[in-house]
Amino acid sequence: MNPPQVAAITTGEPALAVEGVWKSFRERDEGHRQWHPVAAVQDISLVVPRREIVGILGPNGSGKSTLIRLMATLLTPDAGHIRVFGYDIQQHRTAVRRLINRVSVEASFFKKLTAEENLAYATGLYGIPNRVAQQHAREILERLGLLSKKLKVPLEQLSRGQQQKIAIARALLTSPTLMLLDEPTTGLDPKSRREVQQFVLEVRETHDATIVISTHDMDEAERLCDRVAIMSRGRFEALGSAAELKASYGHTLEDVFFALIGEPLDETEGKNFC
Ligand SMILES: Nc1ncnc2c1ncn2[C@@H]1O[C@H](COP(=O)(O)OP(=O)(O)OP(=O)(O)O)[C@@H](O)[C@H]1O
Ligand SMILES: [Mg+2]
Repeated sequence: MNPPQVAAITTGEPALAVEGVWKSFRERDEGHRQWHPVAAVQDISLVVPRREIVGILGPNGSGKSTLIRLMATLLTPDAGHIRVFGYDIQQHRTAVRRLINRVSVEASFFKKLTAEENLAYATGLYGIPNRVAQQHAREILERLGLLSKKLKVPLEQLSRGQQQKIAIARALLTSPTLMLLDEPTTGLDPKSRREVQQFVLEVRETHDATIVISTHDMDEAERLCDRVAIMSRGRFEALGSAAELKASYGHTLEDVFFALIGEPLDETEGKNFC
């Protein structure tokens, strides 16, 4: 395989450049009579240099996953551009897909297959020798406290947290250059959460990875992220280091969050009609 990483690394482009991106979905009104466009992502711009870890915080429905899905080429922007190491996500989808890896709470697996089989499928796609990959996966999963016998049962028989750990191991196996982590630690026990956070920091060091991570955990954002974006109703309300945000909006990141978000979480949902 001839991965495009080599070209990407020599270009000097930022790992990620998001420019004026919009995305709407169609939603029925309460009487189910008419469809309205609902703006999930509104005019987002963000440049992420290599090796940076950027966090996205925001209430439920504020657009974090939609933004990450756009970056991951799983959705097409209505307007604006996204480039990954200079590759436009629409024009160079295949190259972009080789450079990124996404972990989300709703990890996609072949649920009837075992973890080993799912991992073999993923590494096959990326041209990584299976034996090496399985050994590496075992080491990662051991650190995350998953017993190796669990690798031999169908995924559908594992708990959500256990499946999440396998999704994380799978993402780390393919040495991604840009990792898109959508709530990777949601639902994990505290020790596993800490291990995943440690992996995120390690993967930046060992693979020169750039990481975008959404989370509801303020401590996690503060521990991992060089910069944090606070997202509400599809927009970035603020973007800066935790220290910068706290200097402007409050003593803790949680203070910052409430200062910028204002309303209780679910009340913001679905009101951003275009
Ligand atoms: N496939 C879809 N079809 C229609 N509407 C969608 C779709 N995906 C997301 N939305 C809407 O877009 C908005 C943003 O959703 P999104 O999943 O991006 O939020 P989020 O910030 O990730 O929330 P959470 O914290 O709950 O994960 C919500 O109003 C949601 O209902
Ligand atoms: Mg989400």
